[in-house]
Formats: sequence, structure tokens, C-alpha cells
Amino acid sequence: MITKGQTGLYIHWPFCLSKCPYCDFNVHVDSGVDQARWCAAYLKSLEHVAGLTEGRIISSIFFGGGTPSLMLPSTIAAIIDKIHALWPCVNDLEVTLEANPSTVEIEKFSAFREAGINRVSVGVQALNDKDLKFLGRKHSAKEALQAIEIASKIFDRFSFDLIYARPGQVPEDWRAELTQALALARGHLSLYQLTIERSTPFYLDHTRGVFSIPDEDVAADFYLLTQEMTSQAGLASYEVSNHAAEGHQSRHNLTYWHYGDYIGIGPGAHGRLSFEGKKYATREHYAPPIWLERVEKSGMGGHPFAPLPAEERFTEALMMGLRLRGGVTLAHLDAQASGGKWRDYVDEERLSRVRAQGWLDYDSERLWLSVEGMLRLNALIPYILKAQPEAVCV
Ligand SMILES: C[S@@+](CC[C@H](N)C(=O)[O-])C[C@H]1O[C@@H](n2cnc3c(N)ncnc32)[C@H](O)[C@@H]1O
Ligand code: SF4
Repeated sequence: MITKGQTGLYIHWPFCLSKCPYCDFNVHVDSGVDQARWCAAYLKSLEHVAGLTEGRIISSIFFGGGTPSLMLPSTIAAIIDKIHALWPCVNDLEVTLEANPSTVEIEKFSAFREAGINRVSVGVQALNDKDLKFLGRKHSAKEALQAIEIASKIFDRFSFDLIYARPGQVPEDWRAELTQALALARGHLSLYQLTIERSTPFYLDHTRGVFSIPDEDVAADFYLLTQEMTSQAGLASYEVSNHAAEGHQSRHNLTYWHYGDYIGIGPGAHGRLSFEGKKYATREHYAPPIWLERVEKSGMGGHPFAPLPAEERFTEALMMGLRLRGGVTLAHLDAQASGGKWRDYVDEERLSRVRAQGWLDYDSERLWLSVEGMLRLNALIPYILKAQPEAVCV
């Protein structure tokens, strides 16, 4: 039994209508999903996990995927009702749904609100048809605009995602598109630089030279332009790729970045739960049919909870915390240092070196990255950690 504390709850819906060529999430294309069977499995899995996490208070729910807007509103309603029946929830519970902007899904927005969704995050990705086609998206720019308009009418809180630094895009194109996006946004925007992930069709095409993406210097220009424009528009970044007006940040995602506790349910979902000074990792079976069968049989769709080794725990807390614009408090890092201090895990000489470069800084309370440091986030963290002798950053 792993009790105590406020806890986020993530539900993974692993299905999409088609697979976008840049995406490496745990998603599957299956037109014959038995929604009733999946709904019953989610409810059973929730019951099982509730038995292991009694006494916790649910602080947010997030339906992610895949494309959870393909779920029936009745399935969403049943899951939300079940969560309320199994755990106490905070009064202002944030319940987010990731939605794709196809006409069919937009038509379900009201029903989703009735089901208990109070925030949507719409996967717009681009505001012109040519780039949407390149990204393998099934919606048009017109549908994206409709989705934004309808979401803003139905939900008090909504966000949308865009992917930038696409092949052929130059910072001036992005300036025009982001200007349009900022005029449409209300409170929150997620802006991701296109990443070429291994094991995706884009990886193969990119390697074969079918297309190229902006080089590092131009990518940095895109990032800096994004920071400047969103700040001026009152939607400054609060995390590497997330921008919000004060009070509009995603509370669920903040739980991840603050390295708080969360439960993950559904194929491939993972969770982090602290108990008696230890942090436990939870991991659900990755393949949808296996997850479904296991849950139907025993209620348990995952592997047994495992305590995280000290170094892994500290590394995760640091990686998550440094994604935030405000950085991470030293008290929090000490609390994740398994009885030690944060500096026990850090290479002092390398820390001084990146500080001298102006990429990272700290005072007596916090450790944070500059915008230039954010650009190097993935290389910089292994570089400053003691346990990673081969890491190269400067
Ligand atoms: C979990 S995904 C999926 C949400 C939803 N299914 C959709 O595609 O609209 C969340 C977001 O990650 C971003 N994303 C996924 N893969 C990416 C990649 N390779 N490069 C940049 N952004 C990516 C997209 O903006 C996407 O909306
Ligand atoms: S719709 Fe979203 S989750 Fe599905 S393949 Fe495309 S990017 Fe990935």
C-alpha cells in the first residue's frame, strides 16, 4: 500500500486514426476498438490501483494518448465518476483531455464537458495545409481554427499545440504563424520544436536526405524568437515548451516537473509514488492487448512497483525541475538526494564551467537555466552529474 499526499492521475488511450510520421508515442492504429471492453478495463484498473493508494487525494486528471478524443464521452464520464468514487479529489480538480481537431471530435466537445472535462489541449501542430500534410495530419487548417474557436467557447481553459522549425520553415514564417496563434490563444500554448525521433518514418526520411530540418543555429533562432514573442504577448514560457498567462499553467504537468506523485493507467503509462522516504516507479504493460488481458484477469495491468535507485531519483528530479523557467529549489533537490545533499550528485568543476558560460545559475535557494541553457538542456544535465563521466557539453 502506497499512501499519502496529493497525486495526479494520468489515463493513456493508446489509439489513433493514423500514425503521424514524427510520433514515437505508444500509439496504435486500430479501427475496431471495443470501447465497452476498454471502458470496463479502465474502471477495473482504477479499482485495483485505488486499493494500493488509499488515502491519497487526486489533484488532477489527464487523458492523454494517442488520441483520447476518440474515446466515447460516456467512457470518459464513467472513468471520472469512478475516480471520484474511489479517492477524495481537490475541489478545483483540473481534468484535461488531449483532442485532435477533426470535425468528428470537435462535435463531441460539449459532451466531453458534460462528462467532466474542464480543460482541453488541442493538437493543432500547424496553421497551414501544406505543413499539416507534411506532418501527416488528417485535419485542415480550417478545421484547426474551428476546433480552437469551439474549444474557447465550451471550455474556460484550453490550450493548443504547435510544432515549429519544420523543413523549409524560416524564422520569419514562424513569426507570422505564431502571431496568428497568439491572437487565438487564451491562457496557454504548447510550442514544440520538431524532433526527429528514432524509429519513426521521419527518422528514415531525414537520414536519407529526403528533407532537412533547420540546423542548430537556426533552431536556436526559432527558440529565442518564440521566447521573445510569447513573453511580449503575456504568455511567457514557464517550461521549455509550455507558455501560459499567470494562473493558466497546466497543473497536471506541473506535478511532473515538480517531481510530485502521479498514478499512470493504461498501456505504457508510468507513475511515480513516494512513500516512507522512497520514490516508487510504476509501469504499465506496453502492448494494448496484453494490458487489456492482464487487467481483465486480475485488475493489474502493470509491473510491481519498484523503488527507484538513489541516483536515478535525483537525476529525474533535476531533469524535471530544470525544465521549469523558475528552476528548482535546492531544498527540493536535497529532499530527492536520499539522505544526502544535492551537491553530492553534481560535478563541481563542470557546474562552475556551465555557470561561467551563463547557461546555468544558482543562489542560496534555487538552481535554474538561462534561455541559452534551455537550448542545451539534454546535454547539460548529464554533463553536470557526477555519475556520467562521458557526457560532453562544453
Ligand atoms: C502526446 S502528443 C499527442 C496529442 C495528440 N494526439 C495530437 O497529436 O494532436 C502531444 C504533443 O507532442 C508534440 N509532439 C509529438 N511528437 C513530436 C515530435 N517528434 N516533435 C515535436 N513535437 C512533437 C505534438 O505537438 C503533440 O500535440
Ligand atoms: S495523432 Fe498524436 S499521438 Fe497519434 S500518431 Fe499523431 S501525434 Fe502521435
